[in-house]
Amino acid sequence: MSQETRHPFLQGLSKHRGVQPTIITIFGASGDLCARKLVPAIYNLAVDNLLPADFYLIGFGRKPIPDEEFRSMASEAISSFSRRPLNKEIWDRIEKNTFYCSGGYDEEEGFQKLSDKIDSIEKESGREMQSVFYVSTPPSVFDPIVKNLGKVGLATKYQDSSKHTKVVIEKPFGKDLESAQNLNRAIQGVFQERQVYRIDHYLGKETVQDLLVQRFANSIFEPLWNRNYVDNVQITVAESLGVGTRGGYYEQSGATRDMIQNHTMQLLALTAMEAPASLDAESIRDEKVKLLKAIKPLKLGYDNPDVVRAQYHEGLIGGKKVTGYRDEEGVSPQSETETYAALRLSINNWRWQGVPFYLRSGKRMARRVTEIAIQFKRPPSSLFSENEMINLANNSLVFQIQPDEGSTILLNGKIPGLQTRTQPVKMHFRYSTTFGSNTPEAYERLVLDAMIGDGTLFIRGDETEASWNLITPLHEFWKSEGQRGIETYASGSWGPSASDRMLWQNSHEWRRP
Ligand code: BG6
Repeated sequence: MSQETRHPFLQGLSKHRGVQPTIITIFGASGDLCARKLVPAIYNLAVDNLLPADFYLIGFGRKPIPDEEFRSMASEAISSFSRRPLNKEIWDRIEKNTFYCSGGYDEEEGFQKLSDKIDSIEKESGREMQSVFYVSTPPSVFDPIVKNLGKVGLATKYQDSSKHTKVVIEKPFGKDLESAQNLNRAIQGVFQERQVYRIDHYLGKETVQDLLVQRFANSIFEPLWNRNYVDNVQITVAESLGVGTRGGYYEQSGATRDMIQNHTMQLLALTAMEAPASLDAESIRDEKVKLLKAIKPLKLGYDNPDVVRAQYHEGLIGGKKVTGYRDEEGVSPQSETETYAALRLSINNWRWQGVPFYLRSGKRMARRVTEIAIQFKRPPSSLFSENEMINLANNSLVFQIQPDEGSTILLNGKIPGLQTRTQPVKMHFRYSTTFGSNTPEAYERLVLDAMIGDGTLFIRGDETEASWNLITPLHEFWKSEGQRGIETYASGSWGPSASDRMLWQNSHEWRRP
């Protein structure tokens, strides 16, 4: 899709935003993310003519790899994972400017070589260029990478101009409040906050950005967007996949660290925050932080707690038998890691007092779906409900983030006929029908924004800490309890019954997406 046919909101946002000459260095260049997401994203930006004429790509990793080999790894990655096929002419333009540097992440020497390479590129092309460092490594080396960028002077290069260095940090950003604070301190000891781009790839998804448009570019929702009309809000981030080959990572992470603390909390913040004063990065992030800080601490324990954790056991996905979590590769048979978590949150502010926000995320669930459902209160009068032919549903507004992107309003309508009978009916908006289906991937948008220097769709340091502040007591509690309280659910189901019971306590039930 060309830039002219992109979503109107994106056209507005990208207006007047040229990308200056740039060198992107990817740390973790032989890793999965680089092949599946980053290189294809860069390629698709080139297809859309969004890369500057002076654009260079450097892969950095521990393993020594000749430039030629890295180039063919990159072109294979594009052939396998890009949403658009490899066009040789476009790839040739990137390929000739693609290089590889090797070095240990905790050794200054490799970073000095990298700095020399950057100098020589600038010298050859006869111009100064901004550097974007994309840290896509395991989190254990985030800290040494950042410090070494500082030591060799790359962090402060062109500090006072728009060519200042940018650093993009992948998730997971810490594993609890303390480690996130330490990482923030390490980064802020070397970079200024405006140079730092903490990734949450959900923010790059078209439909997540559209949430802001739907909320703030339409006047019909705002009067209803509060405790007077909203009964409850349900955010579901369900996956049908299991942990696959990532058992080792997932054992340390679990659903709350992997999905809730970041992606799901971001969806919550965008849904519930106040209107920002403007669409600039700081205004939006200020509102998100205010919202996250207004969430009440979770009620833990065993007397109607605000959280449920569970692990999948074997079951059927798409008619095929799949193994239980504890039998997955790299997973302990006594594992205490949750593959599903559901939270009931209360937001302590004027707008949302008394409205429960239910969040759930799990692997190996019935199907892959991410949605935000605003469930409205029933009409105050029982005019219709006295008639037993009447089947009234709560009105709801559902944002389908993925797949089948769009939004749906659920209303009660009259079934045609001489009797007064009602039926819930749906009004659908589908992205693919209106805008076509070849929308940019989240990483395209995020890589472009980092090059442009727009931090709107990235997480600020205080934001990640506010979210960890809520989740960390939960992890401490679970740790102290060991196996106690871990529920199970069948693969291919909608989660454990304890999660249904949590909602029944409030006379609510989960939607079946
Ligand atoms: C990642 C998690 O952040 O998001 C994965 O680490 C998860 O476990 C993935 O599968 C889901 O992303 P998406 O874009 O496929 O919904």
